Amino acid sequence: MLRDLILKNRSYRRFYQEVDIKRDNLRELVDLARLSPSARNAQPLKYILSCEPKRNSLIFPHLAWAQYLTGWGGPCEGERPSGYIIILGDTKISGSFGCDHGIAAQSIMLGATEKGLGGCIIASIDRDGLRKALGIPERYEILLVLALGKPKETVVIETVGASGDTKYWRDSDGVHHVPKRQLDDIIVG
Ligand SMILES: Cc1cc2nc3c(=O)[nH]c(=O)nc-3n(C[C@H](O)[C@H](O)[C@H](O)COP(=O)(O)O)c2cc1C
Repeated sequence: MLRDLILKNRSYRRFYQEVDIKRDNLRELVDLARLSPSARNAQPLKYILSCEPKRNSLIFPHLAWAQYLTGWGGPCEGERPSGYIIILGDTKISGSFGCDHGIAAQSIMLGATEKGLGGCIIASIDRDGLRKALGIPERYEILLVLALGKPKETVVIETVGASGDTKYWRDSDGVHHVPKRQLDDIIVG
């Protein structure tokens, strides 16, 4: 079951924007992150939730989508995320956040997948712009934005070819292809 969930949990970047996500759903997802591992159990992560169109529209312009899909500027109006979870690091709790936010992000994305949602972890963020747009206090470092919604695209996993190229790509039918390295190529000892 976990393998199935992980297989289904792809990065989706186009959504049925009209399908709402309830704030309570976002809270349930953050609760999964809350219960996840944290270095020294310091739990320095804090979260901002967004599921209203007005707030969503303040976040969207500060995100960069799919750098390998050159010529695609990200999802168009109508295919944008219905919600976001912004992962912050509280510098009053810790000066470094290690990989806590990566673990939290994966817990949230797996929980979203289980709920029939999907999304994308985004680290390419205009952090100053997002901070200003939402009035995020300086004490919080902006670590990741998780874009969420009901996926409106097909994503398939394939095997990295002899060239070793790991770039994802989109075919003429709009299917998104994600090459993954083979198991024997990543176990080195
Ligand atoms: C830490 C991290 C940061 C990422 N940042 C971005 C990003 O800024 N923009 C984006 O479109 N995708 C981003 N992604 C999604 C990756 O491109 C995606 O995970 C990768 O293409 C593999 O696809 P998959 O998630 O379906 O396996 C990020 C993923 C991770 C784990």
